[in-house]
Amino acid sequence: MKHLNSVITGTGSYIPTVRVTNREFTRHTFYNEDETKIETLVDEVIAKFKDITGIEERRWVSDDLCASDIGAIAARRAIEDAGVDPETIDQIIVAHNFGDIKHGTIQTDILPSLASRIKHHLGIKNPSCIPYDLIFGCPGWVQGVIQADSYIKSGLAKRCLVIGTDTLSRLIDKHDRDCMIFADGAGAVVIEAKEEEAKRGILSAAAMSHTEEEAFYLYLGKSYHPESDPNIRYIKMEGRKIYEYALINVPEAMKVAVENAGVEPNEITKILIHQANEKMDEAIVKRFVKKCRIEKSVPELMPMSIRELGNSSVGTIPTLYDMIIKGKQPEHKIDKDDIVMFASVGAGMNINAVVYKH
Ligand SMILES: CC(C)(COP(=O)(O)OP(=O)(O)OC[C@H]1O[C@@H](n2cnc3c(N)ncnc32)[C@H](O)[C@@H]1OP(=O)(O)O)[C@@H](O)C(=O)NCCC(=O)NCCS
Repeated sequence: MKHLNSVITGTGSYIPTVRVTNREFTRHTFYNEDETKIETLVDEVIAKFKDITGIEERRWVSDDLCASDIGAIAARRAIEDAGVDPETIDQIIVAHNFGDIKHGTIQTDILPSLASRIKHHLGIKNPSCIPYDLIFGCPGWVQGVIQADSYIKSGLAKRCLVIGTDTLSRLIDKHDRDCMIFADGAGAVVIEAKEEEAKRGILSAAAMSHTEEEAFYLYLGKSYHPESDPNIRYIKMEGRKIYEYALINVPEAMKVAVENAGVEPNEITKILIHQANEKMDEAIVKRFVKKCRIEKSVPELMPMSIRELGNSSVGTIPTLYDMIIKGKQPEHKIDKDDIVMFASVGAGMNINAVVYKH
């Protein structure tokens, strides 16, 4: 019997060119949520931040670029890598959270959708190529992969382009210490239907959504600066609550995905997890490893890019994946038949995990 597999045939990413080190925040004045000034020396705040999150620097886009521009660059690279004719793509699924925000403004622009813009940038004329956006917090790109798999398995699509792109630097509150987490970036993959003897590609998925008080763990709110305009809002988060939420729920979703995949947990060779906090990710994977009695170590399983790239939201996992495939993470390799997991958590609150066989 032949299997209908959903297989990643090309990867691409765009790492923005503006390198912003933690040092650059020494000029900032940070405030608490209640608008009182943080009196701790800024150097100490930054050292603490590095200690908690692992982040040393992040990338921001140059002033001339928006999310759809960098998404299109990553997409073009993935299409070239797959060696396919862009006119044969059935679906363009673009995960993002804030649309295009032009430099110097703080207004989201999603008219037309980023997927339509990217289709335009790629010069695709085929009216049967359907572009649409997916808003699912940081797990948006993984959810796009799950959707592409469903379209392929149901016979509605044969070739999908799944992109994750965000420019969080355009809506950070520079007076909030948590702003140091956020970064920009874009990644993309081409996923194709392949009829094959052996089962491979996307083996399974799991997703969770919690929308009681969790719905507002990430939200838009006014700047913490006392004299700021209350009508201008920035990305805000309940960091500690997210941390605790993620630690409880993400390992469980990962376990469900492995069970659904019908593979032995020990067969997993790499876990590419969304990165907002290095220690949080280590704790999540440690719990998962313990739950599933996996014998590999966390550093061996989990490639990280957070120290240099920060949290680029939906861009993080596809960028990391592209870097590994292209040999840009020398300590981590993905070979034929390896079983990889993608896992993510973010605004919604949403969680998801995919098990993928190379
Ligand atoms: C935001 C976050 C860095 C705060 O760290 P934390 O350890 O939970 O922080 P707490 O509020 O418990 O405070 C602990 C200490 O860190 C300090 N601190 C808190 N946030 C800080 C920040 N952003 N930078 C520097 N120091 C910070 C506090 O002042 C406190 O200092 P003290 O020990 O001297 O009193 C962390 O909770 C986090 O990364 N959460 C997850 C974020 C996430 O996944 N977001 C998803 C985005 S998609």
